[in-house]
Amino acid sequence: MNKATRKAVIAGNWKMNMTPSEAVAAVKKTAELTEGKNGCDVILCVPFVDIAPAVEAAKGTHVKIGAQNVHFEAKGAYTGEISAAMLLECGAEYVIIGHSERRQYFGETDETVNKRLKAALAAGLKVILCVGEVLEERQSGITEEIVSMQTKLDLAGVGAEDMKNIIIAYEPVWAIGTGLTATPEQADEACGIIRGVLEGLYGKDTAESVTIQYGGSMNDGNAAELLSKYHVDGGLIGGASLVPEKFDKIVSAAQ
Ligand code: PGA
Repeated sequence: MNKATRKAVIAGNWKMNMTPSEAVAAVKKTAELTEGKNGCDVILCVPFVDIAPAVEAAKGTHVKIGAQNVHFEAKGAYTGEISAAMLLECGAEYVIIGHSERRQYFGETDETVNKRLKAALAAGLKVILCVGEVLEERQSGITEEIVSMQTKLDLAGVGAEDMKNIIIAYEPVWAIGTGLTATPEQADEACGIIRGVLEGLYGKDTAESVTIQYGGSMNDGNAAELLSKYHVDGGLIGGASLVPEKFDKIVSAAQ
């Protein structure tokens, strides 16, 4: 496998945006605009309460729906948390795990990310795992160490077989929501570092088959160049995914 045969995936991360009724309208519009653009998978990761209506709105279209987090326990006294079985029953196929906003604001660690990831896979969800360095780490020249360490710790105990259900998103924290984008070269280099870690863990064939996305201020203006890079197989898009017309242009760039 190589870039030509790997699955390109454009995923939206709506974060804490869109009420259920707004979600239905946005899913329908996104599906309508991106219809027939089969060169990539299209996923929208929506707030928990939007999942069921979004799944209903996406029925019969190519748009797949995902969540933005999942708890590692199956059930119990975990106020405010959501289990993998709950997500699946609402129709979610994917879940984002380890987003930097979860790590930064909600105390997620590589250990809890790893537990959530394993619980999601065991239940039958597909995972978008996020890793990425903060600005000080990039400025100190330790991006490779940070991204490699996160990838290894987050995937601890995960077998090669499971990698077909995992997408990795390289998201430099300094580029998220800031309007600063990694250069195509920086994105390619970091995604290549992640692929190298996967090769060490699972061998070359598996490493070459995994979809690795770039995320961080990807938009309709910069997507084509980022996506042209060898190791960049898709995008995880925050802000621009809230506007179906903008998101559609990114999907077009991935064709
Ligand atoms: P952004 O967010 O596109 O708004 O920078 C990306 C993300 O956080 O996944």
